[in-house]
Amino acid sequence: MSVGIDEISFYTSNYFLDLRTLAEVQGTDPEKYYQGIGQIKMGMAAPDEDVVTMAANAALPLIERVGGDAISTLMFATETGIDQSKAAGVYVHRLLGLTSNCRVVEMKQACYSATAAIQMACALVARQPEKKVLVIASDIARYELDTPGEATQGCGAVAMLISANPRIVEIAPEVGNYTEDVMDFWRPNYRSTALVDGKYSTKIYLRSLKQAWENFRQVSAASFEDFGHFCYHLPFSKMAQKAHQQLARINKAGLSAEQLEEQILDSLYYNKIIGNSYTASMYIGLTSLLENCRQNLAGSKIGFFSYGSGCVAEFFSGTVMEGYQQYLHTERHSKMLEARSEVSYDEYLALYKHPDPRDGERCDIPHVTTGRYRLVSIVDHKREYIAL
Ligand code: HMG
Repeated sequence: MSVGIDEISFYTSNYFLDLRTLAEVQGTDPEKYYQGIGQIKMGMAAPDEDVVTMAANAALPLIERVGGDAISTLMFATETGIDQSKAAGVYVHRLLGLTSNCRVVEMKQACYSATAAIQMACALVARQPEKKVLVIASDIARYELDTPGEATQGCGAVAMLISANPRIVEIAPEVGNYTEDVMDFWRPNYRSTALVDGKYSTKIYLRSLKQAWENFRQVSAASFEDFGHFCYHLPFSKMAQKAHQQLARINKAGLSAEQLEEQILDSLYYNKIIGNSYTASMYIGLTSLLENCRQNLAGSKIGFFSYGSGCVAEFFSGTVMEGYQQYLHTERHSKMLEARSEVSYDEYLALYKHPDPRDGERCDIPHVTTGRYRLVSIVDHKREYIAL
């Protein structure tokens, strides 16, 4: 049976910092960011936005089309959890008006967990083909100020409807996995920013790609030449370029540098101006590929490399469906991105340092987001969200 992504939509905050501004304040050459890591802007969440509001915003266009009743399970992937116990997806369930018979669960393994959610969603649909599973990945990437990771911050959420006979991308069942207990990037429960061994993390990312690919080759008949395009986990776009060159080297692919670049270029546009969105980033990359590639991708095979620090990695594949273009939300996404406001360095600092109350005292949060959902207050340690 054919199972996969039936529809896909993403959301990012209305605010961004141009990395030139960051570079000027730091006395760094902006080209280190623009060229060196391949990033231009980074998305900054408004004070009344978090993974819940971004997730609801991302999923709204899908729910508007299929209706809340169609969803049997909501899987929420994040590493920016707002509660150790309650799944963030339960708030989203109410905001989107899903039925009380819909199950909700939160998944975690750094940037990888959305891929686990998709694979599990495909298995659920294969068992009950009349059901649809909503997979949402939502994250805010935060590093300490004045660290190498700072320029790779970002925020975003992506929502995907997983169904039988999907209209966008059919996901193949063969996967290659790689897991290793390493400390390349982590965030203990008591910290709001991640700790990272930056250079080491890039080495582990590349090692995991090699291992996951080799495992994939043991279970799948597909070879490097069978893939027209590739989507990589995107902590910053240069990482995907390095990864793709490595994969081509491993496979002794006889492609020129330009041909290799063409296989990934269209997947990078959105991430370059949003930044890292952790669990969402590879799937925003997929959206970028589908919405920006001039050539008709129908029938084309896409290779996916999903990586989550710590680490778990997976290589899998998908095939683009005939007529996929008519189900994309290209115009909505481009309007959203065009409407964003640039912030100054001081405004960026204010967004970065916005109050994060932990004492249970009432905290009313000003209305700043231009999205359809917002966090209004935190009272007695309870977060209150509304639809606007
Ligand atoms: P850094 O060490 O400050 O940067 O930060 P650098 O000195 O290595 O420079 C970066 C590149 O810019 C280099 O290119 C320089 O040559 C170039 P490369 O040698 O790599 O090809 N450069 C310039 N280019 C043009 N003009 C210039 C110029 N100056 C320098 N003037 C680092 C890099 C990755 C360490 C940092 O960004 C970082 O710590 N990032 C966070 C960690 C990260 O993103 N790791 C990626 C792999 S792990 C992962 O993907 C998982 C993750 O998403 C989390 C999760 O799973 O949950 C992070």
